[in-house]
Amino acid sequence: MSFTNLQDHEILAWLREEDGARVRELWQAADAVRAEVVGPQVHLRGLIEISNYCCRECAYCGLRAPARDVARYRMTADEILAAARQAVSFGYGTVVMQAGEDYGITREALAGTIRRIKAETPLAVTLSMGERPEEDLAAWREAGADRYLLRFETSDAELYRRIHPTPPGRAHRDRIAVLPVLRKLGYEVGSGVMIGTPGQTVASLARDIALFRALDLDMIGEGPFIAHPDTPLGGGAPRTAPEGEQVPDSARMTCSVLALTRLVCPEANIPSTTALATVDPIAGHEQGLRCGANVVMPNLTPGRYRALYSIYPDKEGIHDDPQVFHERLLARLHALGREPGAGPGNRIRRTAAG
Ligand code: 5AD
Repeated sequence: MSFTNLQDHEILAWLREEDGARVRELWQAADAVRAEVVGPQVHLRGLIEISNYCCRECAYCGLRAPARDVARYRMTADEILAAARQAVSFGYGTVVMQAGEDYGITREALAGTIRRIKAETPLAVTLSMGERPEEDLAAWREAGADRYLLRFETSDAELYRRIHPTPPGRAHRDRIAVLPVLRKLGYEVGSGVMIGTPGQTVASLARDIALFRALDLDMIGEGPFIAHPDTPLGGGAPRTAPEGEQVPDSARMTCSVLALTRLVCPEANIPSTTALATVDPIAGHEQGLRCGANVVMPNLTPGRYRALYSIYPDKEGIHDDPQVFHERLLARLHALGREPGAGPGNRIRRTAAG
């Protein structure tokens, strides 16, 4: 099997590969493409989890609306600005504001916060606010937001419907259909999937990866599914795909998916995610950075809110002070022969000759 111009059946074959030596070859091939195309820079994006309110009922997520035991918070603009200034002080080029789908964050309020960040700092601004109406997305872009993240989670329509019930009073939205809207508005567009969601087949995951290429995504986020006990997919015996077809929610499978993603989307910004570091804290972020990833998103959410953003349990680094995490990360990047990226870290585009 070759590593260039991977066809759909080859992506599938790599996902099914069991020979450890062959899997390591795949990871090394992706690392080589990463080094050649995006270089040694690891872009650092300061993550600010600005609200844990959510109106959606995603069957895997600890912040889903029916999770009554979650104490909810929403950061003020001043708190967000303080976190953004901290990102600047660490030399990060981007802040990512993420929240549940929270209509308590109004179009105008967030637009105002974006304008303040853009006026008072040199940061690029990424948003991850769920499936908001186009008018909101347009206003935020107008206010200066640069990028938007919306994972489609799976391209298997049946599985998608099963894990994303439509709450009463909310329109059913197809996340894949939102991505071209974001593109049209002028955002850099990010998406991605969870790996090992109960019911996810290897064949559907291969199609997800092929879809990343078809969508020409600028950013692709992928992490293992982590069962949250207070969700429908978290407890008991969740409905899994047939034996041999279910995608494992392992670090190893995640690394192979990251590698295949780098091979099919060589120019994309690909994070080594917190979820990956959570399932294998010893190998941490380094394992993803060795298999094709070129981005890390250090958490800058104030300590008093951090534990409340419980998408899944036992998140890696949950108690780390940003300064401590930052210094440790720089040392780890250095040990890997990598360096923190300078500037905003936009998606690069190779020239036609490249
Ligand atoms: N395990 C792993 N990832 C999760 N996400 C949400 N819940 C979980 C979970 N239980 C991911 C989704 C979402 C992103 C913000 O977090 O992919 O898009």
